[in-house]
Amino acid sequence: MKSLAFAAGPVLAALAFAAPACAQEAGPAHPGRAVVLSKCFQCHTDAMFRDHRQDRRGWEATVYRMIGRGALWTPEEIKLMADYLGADYGTSAKPAAAPR
Ligand code: HEC
Repeated sequence: MKSLAFAAGPVLAALAFAAPACAQEAGPAHPGRAVVLSKCFQCHTDAMFRDHRQDRRGWEATVYRMIGRGALWTPEEIKLMADYLGADYGTSAKPAAAPR
């Protein structure tokens, strides 16, 4: 199971690179994006977190939870990833729900 995840990782990473348009406005990609793509896929694909929506603080907590699971990252990498995840996977990144 684990080896399968490792084999699928690069393919899914390539797909994630190929489809940035719906997640982001035009313009340079957030500098944290490349860090997330290179770091988070070390253990699992983005299937583990792409449907999560939480603010930057929540993502920072998630990142630290992964450190508890064995990830080794610098404070700078942690900051970049939390910034990026909070921006692109934040609570306001959700398509606006129809007002009720
Ligand atoms: C050191 C390995 C490792 C790395 C690197 C890693 N994760 Fe995880 N992650 C795990 C493990 C182990 C689980 C639990 C898997 C399970 O429950 O089946 C998990 C689960 C998750 C979950 C769901 C459960 C929870 O605790 O919220 C999210 C969200 C998540 N990871 C996000 C991320 C993000 C974002 C990154 C990059 C910043 C990342 N992971 C990098 C090991 C890692």
